[in-house]
Amino acid sequence: MDQSAIKRVNIFDTTLRDGEQAPGASLTPEEKVRIARQLAKLGVDVIEPGFPISSQGEFRAVQQISRELQQVEICGFARAMKEDIDQAIEATKDAARRRLHLFISSSDIHLNFQLRKSREQVIRIAREMVAYAKQFVDRIEFSPMDSSRTGEAFLMEMVEAVIGEGATIINIPDTVGYALPEEFGRIFTVLRTQVRGGDRVEYSAHCHNDLGLAVANSLAAIRAGATQVEVTVNGVGERAGNCSLEELAMAIETRKQSLGVQTGIRTEEIFETSRMVSRFMNFPIAFNKPIVGRNSFQHEAGIHQDGLLKDRSTYEIMNPDQMGIPRNMIILGKHSGRHAIRHRVSEYGIRLDDEQLEQVYSRFKEMADEQKTVTDDQLIGLVGSAINEELESYSLIDVQVVTHNRNVKVASARIKNVEGQQEKVYSGVGSGPVEALITCMKQALSFHVEFDDLELYSLSSGENASGEAVVTISVEGRQFRGTGVDADIIFAVGKAFMSACNQAARETGVRQKKEKSIG
Ligand code: KIV
Ligand code: ZN
Repeated sequence: MDQSAIKRVNIFDTTLRDGEQAPGASLTPEEKVRIARQLAKLGVDVIEPGFPISSQGEFRAVQQISRELQQVEICGFARAMKEDIDQAIEATKDAARRRLHLFISSSDIHLNFQLRKSREQVIRIAREMVAYAKQFVDRIEFSPMDSSRTGEAFLMEMVEAVIGEGATIINIPDTVGYALPEEFGRIFTVLRTQVRGGDRVEYSAHCHNDLGLAVANSLAAIRAGATQVEVTVNGVGERAGNCSLEELAMAIETRKQSLGVQTGIRTEEIFETSRMVSRFMNFPIAFNKPIVGRNSFQHEAGIHQDGLLKDRSTYEIMNPDQMGIPRNMIILGKHSGRHAIRHRVSEYGIRLDDEQLEQVYSRFKEMADEQKTVTDDQLIGLVGSAINEELESYSLIDVQVVTHNRNVKVASARIKNVEGQQEKVYSGVGSGPVEALITCMKQALSFHVEFDDLELYSLSSGENASGEAVVTISVEGRQFRGTGVDADIIFAVGKAFMSACNQAARETGVRQKKEKSIG
């Protein structure tokens, strides 16, 4: 397709409003502001930062985001009620560009059982509230809630009514994730072509994922003329969530020639945005979640790994670098072959001869059988013993933690500083065992480390289950992730932290620099 024929689709991000409605995902106003900054960096076109009337904190967050993020359009969200509209207008008044988003239900199910209003009544309210809001803000987005279960005739009537009052963007929510792609696409075609004034407004799709069809339905809407899609990072939202930003953006990016559209998303910011939202919302990402799940670029079968090493395109349609996914996210497992191991080791600048490879491979297989995955630092440890050299800067020998449910926790860690060839015991306290352990481990390092994040996973079930810890740290403004596996979860955290520190030492040269300047 001719590049100039590719049209732009706007990404409307509602992570901070609809996404935050996911059970347990609530955010503080400060967290909202930090996520909004990251969304702007990601390149979304519109941010819906919250529901201003719902609380003072929410109002403040919307206000601060409106003041600070002048490069994106800010959307104030309101039920079709004067009080909501007034609050949304006030909260967004300092935005450089803004719109107001009003909604009211349109399906008979909602009208009869929830609103207990007639069709005439809701049409009247919709008209009046759009007209009221239009006095203050020109760009008015209107959503007939539960559109996909409303029926064409009444939906057309409602949309025609609000366009008549000045609505400029018509958003069609598949509120309960019920629509099928063909049906959903048809709604847009009908509205665009059959409603009076339907050709002079913008159309937007807002899909929920109850049947796993949110991305497919959003694409169907785009094909039928929608120029905006409403999405959330990691697909967070009520029940099964909303259309996932990263899935939709990468579907469009990967298939833009077929779809004839593109977005303004800076895909290299996807991974960072996804981790940030997951961390702040305490919302884990499923291992097999497309794009950002940790298995999304794992190739377990030997035949796949073999193909991949010959040419990435054999088994990958996207390059993880494109989404800013770090290489060490791609973990080796028990199906990994010699090829993959040699390749991974070579990425650390180490060349193995055939005999060394054989030795590493057989130990690797034993380890993978035992613990399912082998982390990079464990692999490097195996390589070290095969070539009789210690390759890491620090090694965690032993950990002791004393816990008691009321007192502070006390920890000690024996760490070997490989270059200095010395083993030392460090001790520390903390309000929890992890804090106590990290406090003592930091003392062994010759550089400053920020502990950013900890993820914990259970790798098996039963009393003897082993746990996996993934620790993210920052050193000199760069992030590093380390993984540790052990039956003792605190030791797994220690291993993961040590691994991240070793990576930092290896990749930034921070350790050599500091030690030289000390010596
Ligand atoms: O899912 C939905 O219907 C919504 C609207 C209020 C836009 O979130
Ligand atoms: Zn929704």
